[in-house]
Amino acid sequence: MKRVGIVGLGDYLPKKVLTNKDLEKMVDTSDEWITTRTGIKERHIVAKNEATSDLAIKAARKALLDAAGMNPQDLDLIIVATITPDMQFPSVSCLVQKALGAHRACCFDVSAACAGFVYGLVIAQQFIARGVYKKVLVIGVEVLSVITDWQDRNTCVLFGDGAGAAVLTEVKSGGILSTYLGSDGSQSDLLMLPAGGSRHPASHQTIDKRMHYLKMRGNELFKLAVKIMADAAQTALDKAGLKCSDIDCLIPHQANIRILLAVAKKIGLPQEKIFLNIEKYGNMSSASTAVALCEAVKAGRVKKGDIVLLDAFGAGLVWGACVIKW
Ligand code: ACO
Repeated sequence: MKRVGIVGLGDYLPKKVLTNKDLEKMVDTSDEWITTRTGIKERHIVAKNEATSDLAIKAARKALLDAAGMNPQDLDLIIVATITPDMQFPSVSCLVQKALGAHRACCFDVSAACAGFVYGLVIAQQFIARGVYKKVLVIGVEVLSVITDWQDRNTCVLFGDGAGAAVLTEVKSGGILSTYLGSDGSQSDLLMLPAGGSRHPASHQTIDKRMHYLKMRGNELFKLAVKIMADAAQTALDKAGLKCSDIDCLIPHQANIRILLAVAKKIGLPQEKIFLNIEKYGNMSSASTAVALCEAVKAGRVKKGDIVLLDAFGAGLVWGACVIKW
């Protein structure tokens, strides 16, 4: 089995920023409530003419051309993790391929909500480790603002748009040390987008009932997120033969600061070892972990030789954790 690592990262956040103060004018909420309950201060939102693939392509170019110094034609595989594709089909990954001119690559999308980027990394690692493919681009990207009900204060304060990308190849040292993925479909009704698929195709009725906006039972998810993210972190560490004290930086999915502090406490990790950017971006589902990893590296919070733990949880339920030696 070949050793697999990340050799380039890139991110893209849409220009428009929506602050908690802006939200105070839209729904019955307050900056104080949002900040203390979630840790979010602002989030980025796409412009009218911007779609998921536009964000993905910008993040991909940074990861591929600027960071990895790789030619798009060398790519063997493009995986895009998203629950908000431009359209039902073709896949976002095919749209990225077209824009990059990565004509040799095979392409598919992964639907694993907030754990999507970690799922994408694990799939990429499997292909490279077994020698099937050499160069893989993984993107976590979401435009959650189009499935957010801007009249529902329970959810509209939480989400944002963005993209993060990673290029993976065989590496000589370090790289991915362990991975762990899990799912629990019995809890699938806790977070969903009810309409627009084959169960409830788009109709005047589904629009009138606001069924094209995501529905979430946040309180129940909160408790599960803490338990599952802590268990996933521990499992990935055990598989790598490491202890919590070995972690230099935890890069978690950024859903709620209170969830992340509770996870850190549960696994015995000092707070300062968690990389947090939820304040600026909110929950960007599959893009959260990707953007956080990219920013952590840019900020020097992740350095060569560091042990990094990615840990994500989302709708499905699905979860994933990954230990990387940088
Ligand atoms: N402003 C003011 N008050 C609000 C707001 C708001 N924006 N939203 C809810 N409230 C009110 C509620 O109406 C409720 O009022 P009541 O007591 O009078 O009924 C009160 O605040 C408390 O509501 P809770 O839902 O109990 O608040 P909680 O502390 O649980 O926070 C939150 C809600 C932020 C959603 C939290 O539960 C959470 O973060 N859950 C986890 C989300 C998550 O992890 N999702 C999975 C990943 S996302 C993905 O996969 C795409």
